[in-house]
Amino acid sequence: MPKLQNKSALVTGGARGIGAAIARRFAEEGAHVIVGDIDTEAGSTLAAEIGGRFFPLDVASETDWQNLASAIPEIDVVVNNAGITGFEDSPGPHDPEHASLAEWHRVHAVNLDGTFLGCRYAIGAMRAKGAGAIINMSSRSGLVGIPGAAAYASSKAAIRNHTKSVALYCAQQGLNIRCNSIHPAAILTPMWEALIGDGPDREDRKAAMVADTPLKRFGTVEEVAAIALMLASDDATYMTGSEVHLDGGLLAGSAASPGG
Ligand SMILES: NC(=O)c1ccc[n+]([C@@H]2O[C@H](COP(=O)([O-])OP(=O)(O)OC[C@H]3O[C@@H](n4cnc5c(N)ncnc54)[C@H](O)[C@@H]3O)[C@@H](O)[C@H]2O)c1
Repeated sequence: MPKLQNKSALVTGGARGIGAAIARRFAEEGAHVIVGDIDTEAGSTLAAEIGGRFFPLDVASETDWQNLASAIPEIDVVVNNAGITGFEDSPGPHDPEHASLAEWHRVHAVNLDGTFLGCRYAIGAMRAKGAGAIINMSSRSGLVGIPGAAAYASSKAAIRNHTKSVALYCAQQGLNIRCNSIHPAAILTPMWEALIGDGPDREDRKAAMVADTPLKRFGTVEEVAAIALMLASDDATYMTGSEVHLDGGLLAGSAASPGG
């Protein structure tokens, strides 16, 4: 039995990377998937491929969310996945001493405002049925400090906390709307490809980037999609306000001595 039969699901940032894998997996499990993204070309292509619908959506734009709410007033699952590191627009620096206020705001606008607006839309669009699942894409960076990507880490930490506020609010309201966060570490997506690059040293560079990860490899987008599916489905009906770490064991221990 498909796990999302007769469900509708919005995946923001669904045009590529982790979002595209979630959109594909949800469609395989019977969901009607709405791919929301600023990348119209890739988003439309994927939506056509999986029998879903593309909706142009800049998650930082309140107007775009209002348009979405008018077009799609009811929904069962919302995955607030769209996110940026800040490195897309500028090589930095993105540390706490030198980052510009404009870059700080831009990263928070997409990652945090986008998640706030996505949760607000979701609660309204799930109210009629009184049930649904919201999944917010945080990060390992939402659980630890990242000196070279301070805005990203701050925004992801705030997503973690907002997830819990949404979960408690919905429960207080007597709504069976669950809200949980996923915290991936290094997942091989286009976001990483630019850093890894091609050439004969590619595999060595990849290995160096995950040298501290106990499982010694990147995670895959399919592994994130599997967790999103669990949280979206009736396999996780008692999970709300929870966070799932998906990091190859990275946060299980500490590099502090004594090691071994
Ligand atoms: N890849 C990783 O290692 C990793 C680790 C932890 C968390 N994450 C998080 O997972 C999510 C997806 O990451 P990814 O690696 O697939 O990234 P990606 O860059 O490959 O894809 C991001 C997608 O979001 C879309 N997007 C960007 N800004 C948008 C906006 N304002 N409105 C709507 N769509 C927008 C892009 O067009 C793209 O389709 C992000 O929130 C990211 O922070 C990724």
